[in-house]
Amino acid sequence: MSLTFSDFKNQAKEVLNIDLDGYKLDRVERRTKSLMRRYDVNDFDECISLIKNDTAFKEAYLNHFTINTSEFFRNPESFKFLKNDILPELAEKKRKIRIWSAPCSNGCEPYTLAIILTELGLASNRFEIYASDLDPGILDQARSGIYRENSLKNVSTKLRQKYFKPHPEKDNFFVLDSKIRRLVNFEEKDLINGRFDRNWDLILSRNFFIYLTKDMKDQLIKKFLSVLNQDYYFFLGNTEYIFSAEKYDLEKVYQSIYRYNKNN
Ligand SMILES: C[S@@+](CC[C@H](N)C(=O)[O-])C[C@H]1O[C@@H](n2cnc3c(N)ncnc32)[C@H](O)[C@@H]1O
Repeated sequence: MSLTFSDFKNQAKEVLNIDLDGYKLDRVERRTKSLMRRYDVNDFDECISLIKNDTAFKEAYLNHFTINTSEFFRNPESFKFLKNDILPELAEKKRKIRIWSAPCSNGCEPYTLAIILTELGLASNRFEIYASDLDPGILDQARSGIYRENSLKNVSTKLRQKYFKPHPEKDNFFVLDSKIRRLVNFEEKDLINGRFDRNWDLILSRNFFIYLTKDMKDQLIKKFLSVLNQDYYFFLGNTEYIFSAEKYDLEKVYQSIYRYNKNN
């Protein structure tokens, strides 16, 4: 008997423990088929059997499905706004600023924040940066602080010299200063099924909603806002506008940066 994509997806959901229904299905199907081509897998029956029985294939499937692309200062104008406007405001208002990068992928995003806060001269006891992702492999990479040169393309020469060293053994790789690495706490978390901690002043959820269905995006925006402090900030990817932001009590302050205020 030959499995349809829908049967495959239902079985894969159980084995992988990921709510695949929350993601845009045509994309999940495309990603599945492209991996099957790459591994010469003939049909969905063989594919599910490999996911169940071959740990390396299961890992390859997860890696292929979760796009981990990231870079330092992704959308530099938005990070400039954060540096010049939002973070100084938070530093003035809060004794300790709480920031969450979710999902954080290989760590470029939360480390960018750690670099900016350090450049602003804020002592490390004045802020906490948490960063989470579903993929344990990408979190290991994040903790290692080793990056290909192309993920540093938006880092100025001054910051590059100050916070990165060429990797001693690998050409075109750089190692991030351990002082910056120590400023970020990484944690494995599934944003769809996981519990959220409360009391955040800035939440970044960037380049993740693009993979989700409209309903899942709506549910997750509400879930994030339920743990974001009143009057504080929600930062999305630059292509992830929220239409009718007022419906969520959000006010756009710059590009895809929003202030959350129930009393607006
Ligand atoms: C494109 S990266 C975004 C990284 C970073 N925020 C940025 O904009 O550069 C998307 C990340 O979402 C993660 N992801 C996918 N589904 C997830 C889920 N259900 N819970 C947590 N992370 C998830 C993937 O592992 C991947 O690292």
